Amino acid sequence: MLDLPIRPRRNRKSALVRAFVREAELAPDRFILPVFLHSGRGCVPIPSMPGCERLDLDGLLREAEGALHDGVRAIVVFPAVAEELKTSDGAEAWNEDGLVPRAIRALKQRFPDLAVVTDVALDPYSCDGHDGIVRDGRIVNDETVAALCRQALCQARAGADIVAPSDMMDGRVGAVRRALDGAGFTEVSILAYTAKYASAFYGPFRDALDSAPRFGDKKTYQMDPANRREALREVALDEAEGADIVMVKPAGAYLDVIAAVRAATTLPVAAYQVSGEYAMLKAAAANGWLDERRSVLESLLAIRRAGADVILSYFARSAARWLRQG
Ligand code: PBG
Repeated sequence: MLDLPIRPRRNRKSALVRAFVREAELAPDRFILPVFLHSGRGCVPIPSMPGCERLDLDGLLREAEGALHDGVRAIVVFPAVAEELKTSDGAEAWNEDGLVPRAIRALKQRFPDLAVVTDVALDPYSCDGHDGIVRDGRIVNDETVAALCRQALCQARAGADIVAPSDMMDGRVGAVRRALDGAGFTEVSILAYTAKYASAFYGPFRDALDSAPRFGDKKTYQMDPANRREALREVALDEAEGADIVMVKPAGAYLDVIAAVRAATTLPVAAYQVSGEYAMLKAAAANGWLDERRSVLESLLAIRRAGADVILSYFARSAARWLRQG
């Protein structure tokens, strides 16, 4: 050992040195932008998510164009389904003329290079507000998986590039892969919500879609926030079932899970900075308590540093613009 003081600060001495020793980086290519659609006219602000709106089809196309312009080349669409279309089996989820298939077709026609990701789960379509089919107060697994396969196929037929099962039923990744391949959609990817926790941070999203569970909670299918090892069990299953990308959700409060998942698989890892994370940062920024740009970029960088390759974030467009400004 050198008998001189060791000085790590030399690697921080200038912007240039800091830049070439930097370990993690953000880039617009790493982001997927979640957007909300509705079948009403016009664009309606979401109070608990300032800056986000329920978009109509024209608004969606404008948003996609803006995202591409900012360098964000992937979006995931979530529908706010009219109350009268919600049923106990969620059948609107595989209506070929439903909101999501129409949106996918419009997006792919106008912007062939945009990657369109779709959510596979029944909650926006269910009169019970659960991700699966309810019988006698329980969420039934295998019947739900069959419904999810119909939904994923409907999305693939409309032109989805990536389907993203967010429902947390057992065995759904393998079943969806089999259904897609059986219908010739071998190119459609599966982004699996692998470690999705039963989190309070989804509150604003459920406001946006009016999709809160009408009874009980989602703890019999979403994971217990106390558990990390269990996430690795889910990773092993989703990997064996053919997932192309595995996801951890939420992101900011689950960085240890992201890191553990990163270490456990060779698959790409995604993380979802969810609506509540967005709302917290927006609220603090609106009060002048945090610098929005710096705190948002730091939150996203931390998610990358933990091990995420891809980040779903409502800040995707702002972050891409901030990164470009340098
Ligand atoms: C439902 C779904 C949820 C989110 C994405 N897909 C909510 C839930 O599980 O209740 C949450 C996203 C967010 O909070 O931003 N399948």
